[in-house]
Amino acid sequence: MSDTEKKTKININNVSFEYVDKKSKYEALKDISLEIKEGEFVCLLGSSGCGKSTLLSLLNGMNKATKGEIRVDEKLVSGPGIDRAVVFQHYSLFPWLTAKGNVLFGIKQNGKNYSKKQRLELADSYLESVGLSYAKDKYPAQLSGGMQQRVAVARALALESDILLFDEPFGAIDPKLRLELQELVSRLSVEKKKTVVFVTHDIDEAILLADRIVVMEPGKIRTIVDVDIPHPRKRDDLVGKKKYEELHKKLITSFYNHVEENIYEEVFL
Ligand SMILES: Nc1ncnc2c1ncn2[C@@H]1O[C@H](COP(=O)(O)OP(=O)(O)O)[C@@H](O)[C@H]1O
Ligand SMILES: [Mg+2]
Repeated sequence: MSDTEKKTKININNVSFEYVDKKSKYEALKDISLEIKEGEFVCLLGSSGCGKSTLLSLLNGMNKATKGEIRVDEKLVSGPGIDRAVVFQHYSLFPWLTAKGNVLFGIKQNGKNYSKKQRLELADSYLESVGLSYAKDKYPAQLSGGMQQRVAVARALALESDILLFDEPFGAIDPKLRLELQELVSRLSVEKKKTVVFVTHDIDEAILLADRIVVMEPGKIRTIVDVDIPHPRKRDDLVGKKKYEELHKKLITSFYNHVEENIYEEVFL
């Protein structure tokens, strides 16, 4: 199916967002528009403070746009919902539940009428899909950071929502494990036909995962870059290839452009 035939899943229309407290206002997003197709994997890439998490919080429904609107399947987003599952950077598992208990919680939330037997079987299969069958009876405190994030991914999958939202989920994980988790998310998103919005400040991560990379600058979309490389991708197959190197260069240039402009102003004004 060509991209033009694919259904629009998420529509972000002229969205602005202002953080307001008693003393000040700060416009974190300024008139953002973006259309995301069904089954598409979009990375929001940008340096710290440019508004990536803010945009994700609007998609999630935790914050509401000050101006403009966001629609999922043409329906206005007015709060969090089970049609959108979220994985955050900081481990958000329930510490009093085992890995399997956390996944079962996701299954119970998904609104489907599964029998107890089906729920237990599904929990096992989600844990297996993230390679954690052996640790299903462990509590979060007994799991490493990488394992906890695997459980968080399994719990997000258990919601059975079409949309997955990730906010720098592997930022605190060591590089080797991070690569394993990236490849896992990439594979599962394709297999399960998810629409994904994945926040990162890591160019390599964005190229490995995304169909489209939305490069942000403070409050705005700077540019959008298509990643025309078939899935599933493996880091080892990408690095050194011409297409990868060209993309990398293009992204570094647009990523750091505004930084260079700022330096230029400081030096020459
Ligand atoms: N609760 C808040 N109140 C006021 N300003 C905030 C709040 N959260 C974030 N900001 C500001 O909004 C901007 C965007 O933040 P954020 O979306 O967290 O950026 P990113 O995720 O890209 O690092 C930053 O300048 C940040 O300081
Ligand atoms: Mg952030």
